[in-house]
Amino acid sequence: MVSGQDKTLTSERIYLSPPHMGGTELERVQLAFADNWIAPAGPDLALFEQDVCDYIHASNAVAVSSGTAALHLALLAENIGRDDEVIVSSLTFIGTVNPILYVGARPVFIDSDAHSWNLDPNLLEDTLRKWSKSGRKMPKAVIVVHLYGQSADMDAIMAICDRYGVIVQEDAAEALGTYYKGRHAGTIGRAGVFSFNGNKIITTSGGGMLVSEDEEIISHARKLATQAREPEAHYEHTIIGYNYRMSNILAAIGRGQLTVLEERVARKRQIYDTYKNALNDIPGISFVDEMPYGRHTRWLSVMLIDEHEFGASPEDMRLALEEHNIESRPIWKPMHMQPVFSDCEMIGGKVSEDLFTRGLCLPSGTAMSDAQLAYIIDVIHEVAAQ
Ligand SMILES: Cc1ncc(COP(=O)(O)O)c(C=O)c1O
Repeated sequence: MVSGQDKTLTSERIYLSPPHMGGTELERVQLAFADNWIAPAGPDLALFEQDVCDYIHASNAVAVSSGTAALHLALLAENIGRDDEVIVSSLTFIGTVNPILYVGARPVFIDSDAHSWNLDPNLLEDTLRKWSKSGRKMPKAVIVVHLYGQSADMDAIMAICDRYGVIVQEDAAEALGTYYKGRHAGTIGRAGVFSFNGNKIITTSGGGMLVSEDEEIISHARKLATQAREPEAHYEHTIIGYNYRMSNILAAIGRGQLTVLEERVARKRQIYDTYKNALNDIPGISFVDEMPYGRHTRWLSVMLIDEHEFGASPEDMRLALEEHNIESRPIWKPMHMQPVFSDCEMIGGKVSEDLFTRGLCLPSGTAMSDAQLAYIIDVIHEVAAQ
């Protein structure tokens, strides 16, 4: 046990990013129960969509069962399918990529830039130039991921994709509350996706949302998400759809959560600053900067450990934290390194491979106490001293 620590700190597990209710969610759920709006549709659903649109300054949104479902609908709404290729960041969670396979298209992975950890615009430009010159069919879309709460360089990516007529879709699952030059991540490309999974900055326990300025994309996605039912009294179907709609009860939770989102961002950023101030001077430990173009929400605080300089690997650190009942997690294993995607093409790869070798996500839950945070930092210092 770390010397001088309160025993309750060691017995209670500290999770990576657990749900943190704001206080009004249960009341909203109870109101929905009182009105018997337990069905998938209901007033909270439309109000949640509207609340999110108001917050991110978007015009249209459809709330669905997960971020993965929202991405699937985004691809379907653009008619992306067999014979199409989609360029996608390799450094991400598999939920970004699976929908590309669901529609029968092929993912082509691309590396990150070392500063933002997100899709490298220079590499994208080189790639599209080469494809265009060689006569290779252009990718139908590029899916940009805003990782851990930091935006990709959207102006550069939009300009390149506009030049070559490629659609940009934003996976902002980890980036609700993230800004890029004063605009919300997720609202810059043709469509954007958010996740309300239990570990996200706000949660509906599970859920997602697709947003777009293009009303047709959202109305088509809404139709697909409700078994593609035609507007007839009887059940009429002309295309295949999905049962992807968010339930009204979960939307009620989301409405409550949204009222505390800015508080959550502030606390996440404070947690990150505390880690950085306490640990940055240890040889071999470093952190990623906030890009000057935006606001990083620090959804997860990620620490980089140079094994040779620090004297222990990120996995040694993870196990040491685990011994103290503290959950941490390696950075996402890049998709081009995943056995399931071993046949897929990869553009570059050194940056994401290096980040995977060095990165460790630290507990970032906004309900975490200052004493718990100090305890985690003490454990890290203890590993550093060994
Ligand atoms: C980058 C990224 N994309 C997509 C998803 C998928 O979201 P969901 O879990 O809501 O399906 C997640 C997280 O869960 C994610 O982190």
